[in-house]
Amino acid sequence: MEKNQEDLGERLERFVKEQASVFGEVISYVPAKLAVTTVQPSEPVAAKATPAAVVSSLTGLEERLAVHKNEPWYNAPSLEVLESQIHDCQKCRLGPLRKKFVFGVGNPNAKLMIIGEAPGADEDEQGIPFVGRAGQLLTKMLKAIEFEREDVYIANILKSRPPNNRDPKPDEVETCEPYLWKQISLIKPKIILCLGRIAGTNLLKTNESLGKMRGQVFDLFGVNVVVTYHPAALLRNPDWKHGAWEDLKKVRRMYDELEA
Ligand code: URA
Repeated sequence: MEKNQEDLGERLERFVKEQASVFGEVISYVPAKLAVTTVQPSEPVAAKATPAAVVSSLTGLEERLAVHKNEPWYNAPSLEVLESQIHDCQKCRLGPLRKKFVFGVGNPNAKLMIIGEAPGADEDEQGIPFVGRAGQLLTKMLKAIEFEREDVYIANILKSRPPNNRDPKPDEVETCEPYLWKQISLIKPKIILCLGRIAGTNLLKTNESLGKMRGQVFDLFGVNVVVTYHPAALLRNPDWKHGAWEDLKKVRRMYDELEA
């Protein structure tokens, strides 16, 4: 355990130096000491805050999905099949407005899943999540903790772009989120990193502020969930990059603890 933390500390330190350009843009400092962050459990409304490393099967997810057992996609055995069954979805007002359905991308067996809010204009054009400016920053953030995009799975709460990038409406989330739950049930990640308040509150079913969600590790379906800033917010507020870096290091540590 101590050895792992030491290795991680050294690796992160080396990486911060190597990635000076990344964090020159993202986070321009080297932490004095890469101490392990203590998780501060609190009381979110729906998801339960819990210490990291308590990971079990996808408790409660089957029940949520069972409500949709009459949907054709309910028994989809793989992400490919699921995508083929839902990519023409017109269940909400966003269906007719979109150019492309943004299903998700990455490793179908990823232990780390990244969940954002909804596609923007670039994602709507390409049908791939996080490919615009915020997406490019996300790719750098992942690299800074030694993940390639292909190592993780990236998806959004909504699969269709809201007009002018407005916030998702509750009924749009309600219609679309079962697809995300099904993706989670197929991928079975061990850790989910939520990007931004909207992704966090919708996934965790809480009204907590981003400030309150950050710094906690939630248990959702037995998956450890961490919430950090949305990369688009980091582009607008460079001062928040220090906090994001702390969150990312925590995720990396949690991931390495899974491997240990
Ligand atoms: N913002 C998101 O939340 N998701 C994307 O896919 C792109 C930008």
